[in-house]
Amino acid sequence: MRSACLSLLLVTACWALPFRQSGFLDFMMDDPGSGDQPDVTGGQSTPAPPNGPVCPFRCQCHLRVIQCSDLGLKEIPEDIPSDTTLLDLQNNKISEIKENDFKNLKGLHALILVNNKITVIHAKAFTPLAKLQRLYLSKNMLKDIPANMPKSLQELRTHENAITKIKKSSFAGMSNIIVMELGSNPLKSAGIENGAFVDLKRVSYIRIADTNITEIPKDLPKSLSELHLDGNKISKVTSESLKGLKHLAKLGLSYNEISSVENGSLANTPHLRELHLDNNALTSVPPGLPDHKYIQVVYLHANKISNVGTEDFCPPGFNTKKAMYSGISLFSNPVSYWEVQPVTFRCVFDRSAIQLGNYRKK
Ligand SMILES: *[C@@H]1O[C@H](CO)[C@@H](O)[C@H](O)[C@H]1NC(C)=O
Ligand SMILES: *[C@@H]1O[C@H](CO)[C@@H](O)[C@H](O)[C@H]1NC(C)=O
Repeated sequence: MRSACLSLLLVTACWALPFRQSGFLDFMMDDPGSGDQPDVTGGQSTPAPPNGPVCPFRCQCHLRVIQCSDLGLKEIPEDIPSDTTLLDLQNNKISEIKENDFKNLKGLHALILVNNKITVIHAKAFTPLAKLQRLYLSKNMLKDIPANMPKSLQELRTHENAITKIKKSSFAGMSNIIVMELGSNPLKSAGIENGAFVDLKRVSYIRIADTNITEIPKDLPKSLSELHLDGNKISKVTSESLKGLKHLAKLGLSYNEISSVENGSLANTPHLRELHLDNNALTSVPPGLPDHKYIQVVYLHANKISNVGTEDFCPPGFNTKKAMYSGISLFSNPVSYWEVQPVTFRCVFDRSAIQLGNYRKK
């Protein structure tokens, strides 16, 4: 994995992006000024020609991409060319980002600082980066969301840090954010200020998995299409918490402590296609599925469901459901699969979509 990350083109694969980002490298191709660039040298770093662009010692510089990963660096290198668009500093030992570290990088689009030892980021360090779109800070030791991030940012990843708080000011004015990854931090619900996410007017993907939050964060933006909250300590799904999320297509709540889904929750998410509620403490199938038009995947395995009714998944009558279920899982529940009546799944056209018994156990 580590060595695979050495190759720039694998960066996207290594840090598992939620969407296929075909445009990831496009910005290097279509900027004005690319015609002035020195000749392509096959990806190898070349000694700086006199008066020409420099390449920091031991880094590799290729088209305006500067790669300085896996070098044991303790500081951000000096003399980074000012026309750099992507700066890769992952897998180093950088512990601090200082005020002037990125001083000249006005054209930087992507900054990769994953897997360092960063504890401190100067409040003005990101100020010059007026075009920054992607900021990857996962696997560091940050206690706070960095202050004053560029408003141009589209993607922020701070997975696996020591972040305990998300303040309303953390994301103030960040209206271009599309992807937000905050998982594996020691966050609690009390640490997330009300309205912390309201300024993210375009956000489509939020992941806060493997933290210690006990409820679905409040005031989530209406633009959300994916919300991943797996591996937390959430105890219930309230209708209020999903209010207005009319574009939500995927909701991940696996591995929580959910014992109830309030009636009306699913009505608040009319475009939901995937609902992951496996490995929780549910005692019944969530209400609202028969009326739901688009739901396709419902994972309910490993809960405490002891009874499945004939009206739990399908509307009364036949063929009235517009979208077909493509996956329903109910195994590892106390209900015996032979007690579930076949008519329960009358609107499911492909029988293989249903996983009922626990086939591994006899
Ligand atoms: C959640 O809390 C438990 C117990 O307080 C702690 O051991 C665990 O590390 C916390 N999880 C995270 C991601 O911080
Ligand atoms: C849930 O709400 C619907 C419509 O508002 C209502 O018809 C139904 O009886 C409710 N179910 C429960 C279990 O409260």
